Amino acid sequence: MIIVRTFRDVLANTAGTVALVPTMGFLHEGHVSLIEEASAVGDTTVVSVFVNPTQFGDRNDLDTYPTDEDRDAGLALKAGADILFAPGVDEVYPDAHEISVSVGAVGDAMEGKFRPGHFDGVATVVSKLFAGTRPDIALFGRKDAQQLAVITMMANAFRFPTQIVGLPTVRERDGLALSSRNTRLSPNQRATAGQLSHALFDAADAIEAGTRDASAIIDVVHRALRETRGLDVEYVAVADASTSQLVDTIDSDAFVAVAAKVGDVRLIDNVFVDGSNLGVDRGIRLENPSILYEET
Ligand code: PAF
Repeated sequence: MIIVRTFRDVLANTAGTVALVPTMGFLHEGHVSLIEEASAVGDTTVVSVFVNPTQFGDRNDLDTYPTDEDRDAGLALKAGADILFAPGVDEVYPDAHEISVSVGAVGDAMEGKFRPGHFDGVATVVSKLFAGTRPDIALFGRKDAQQLAVITMMANAFRFPTQIVGLPTVRERDGLALSSRNTRLSPNQRATAGQLSHALFDAADAIEAGTRDASAIIDVVHRALRETRGLDVEYVAVADASTSQLVDTIDSDAFVAVAAKVGDVRLIDNVFVDGSNLGVDRGIRLENPSILYEET
């Protein structure tokens, strides 16, 4: 595996089917599963590591975002990456007066409502990564369900010849969705955070029992979280999986999403619903402790 800092060096070292895994680093098993799949389906696997400043509204969140390039390089190599692309801000945003992508109303609900401008930043950086690395396939986690929908729509709108693939959320043994932000939780907060997935799994049970009504599903999640101290719920929503528009009833593929703050750590999670049979994808639970907390 090589580490490169410029788009030019990525292009000089790719051949055959190029599979890109865009990340903001501090890799965990969720990323590892994306990289492993990328190296199974592509000839050249590129992992980008770039903490994108334009998608952070909250300066503190950007400043405290964990980074460790050596650690990322070790994990990416082990998972099968050929190229670790770790550009500086000037490589990605070379101009003072930047042209950027606006996702419009698509990014207004859920994450977009609580993080105004977030999806403009995501769509901008991902379009730069697509244009600059020219991947045939790009892989993203379903944990960021709204992001997956927005990126898929962006790729279609700009006719990027890149197939967008979403892979299931990877979870800790107790159900907590893996996130680089989990490292900022104290042991007590970590236990509290686990309740988010339990509430979503309650909603999944209700859906699999036949509930299609969004407000009833949202109620199940709120009820499950009501007694949880130290958890500040920002939203619970049911949205269409391909457009991320809020829905009243589940009659096509959808996701149930929750966002909450535990202390000053903001966490999101969701479960995916197959609209045709109301089957729910709860993600993959790990048997072994997370590499997220281990030294590498
Ligand atoms: O999901 C992420 O890590 C980021 O939003 C992404 C897609 C790498 C863009 O910065």
